[in-house]
Amino acid sequence: SPQPLIDQFGRAVTYLRISVTDRCDFRCTYCMAENMSFLPKSEVLSLEEIEQIAKIFVARGVTKLRLTGGEPLVRRDIMTLIERLGQLKKDGPLNELTLTTNGSQLKRFSTHLVDAGVERLNVSLDTLDADKFAKITRWGRLQQVLDGIECALDAGLNIKINMVALRGGNDHEIVPMMEWAHSKGMDLTLIETMPMGAVDVDRQDQYLPLTEVIETIGARYTLDDIALDTGGPARYKRVKETGGRVGFIRPLTHNFCESCNRVRLTATGELYLCLGQNDKVNLRDALRQDGPQAVADLLDHAMAIKPKGHDFEIDRQKPQKHVERHMSVTG
Ligand code: GTP
Ligand code: 5AD
Ligand code: SF4
Repeated sequence: SPQPLIDQFGRAVTYLRISVTDRCDFRCTYCMAENMSFLPKSEVLSLEEIEQIAKIFVARGVTKLRLTGGEPLVRRDIMTLIERLGQLKKDGPLNELTLTTNGSQLKRFSTHLVDAGVERLNVSLDTLDADKFAKITRWGRLQQVLDGIECALDAGLNIKINMVALRGGNDHEIVPMMEWAHSKGMDLTLIETMPMGAVDVDRQDQYLPLTEVIETIGARYTLDDIALDTGGPARYKRVKETGGRVGFIRPLTHNFCESCNRVRLTATGELYLCLGQNDKVNLRDALRQDGPQAVADLLDHAMAIKPKGHDFEIDRQKPQKHVERHMSVTG
């Protein structure tokens, strides 16, 4: 059988993140600039090409696929791809097919997602205050997302809320968000803002180290470490009083690269080997020029050049280095 994907540090890649579009119906201030230029359509992989590439990864031992964006559910005909990939799960080789979404389209898609075999979603939501939501997303309507979340829960999807912790932005809402999420049976994951792409705000000003947040929550609740491993970068604690879980993604204070198990496919078919580094291979050109075998061969090269880790840092004395590309491109 084909070789699993193992890098030079012995880490097995079993998790592929796929950015199906760099576009989004929101413009969260920490994620995008107000005036973004989006990728030309001709450079973007077709849904068939994404499926072909995903299948090559699954044949090489990838068991978890996550569709991201931008906003994955604004890509036209996205359900066709999700249904095809869902078949890989129904047929056995794939353990998990999931999405990271802003929740704006869930009213329309929830039952279709369940039918396709999706069991769990991560929904990005940084505030429960409608005015603040409109400000952070630049024009998003909170109620649309809340309605979407209700539809998804009704359809039986498990939901994890992703909240980027923003100093002076939503720091006072972390505890209420946790109470709200847990009251609906949803986990909450808090994320430190990362220097991905140029935006209009100062991320260093907004940076809120989660060690502070853990202390704040810890002063009011009993937190127990738990050994939940979703295959993602979050480390989880159980909150005794609510019975729910809270996860912490701390790329800047807590480096989880040692156990990295993932690579990311951009909407244009570039495979980035680390979120915070530029090492990549171009799977689109290989596929378009030489076919699936060339893609498979390129994966061996990709494993040989996967970097050891990112080098994000927060040093207030220095201007912050940021990775050129935005999260919406990288997935
Ligand atoms: P689970 O499967 O639920 O564990 O999801 P996940 O955390 O892998 O995925 P999600 O798309 O919800 O990402 C949440 C946050 O984690 C985002 O801000 C991601 O950019 C960040 N993240 C995901 N993978 C990596 C990584 O390899 N390195 C770093 N530094 N951050 C990551
Ligand atoms: N730093 C941290 N998280 C980010 N996200 C988008 N941009 C950034 C950033 N610069 C988050 C979104 C979403 C997830 C995929 O990434 O809020 O939850
Ligand atoms: Fe869109 Fe998510 Fe970026 Fe906000 S964080 S602009 S919802 S991709």
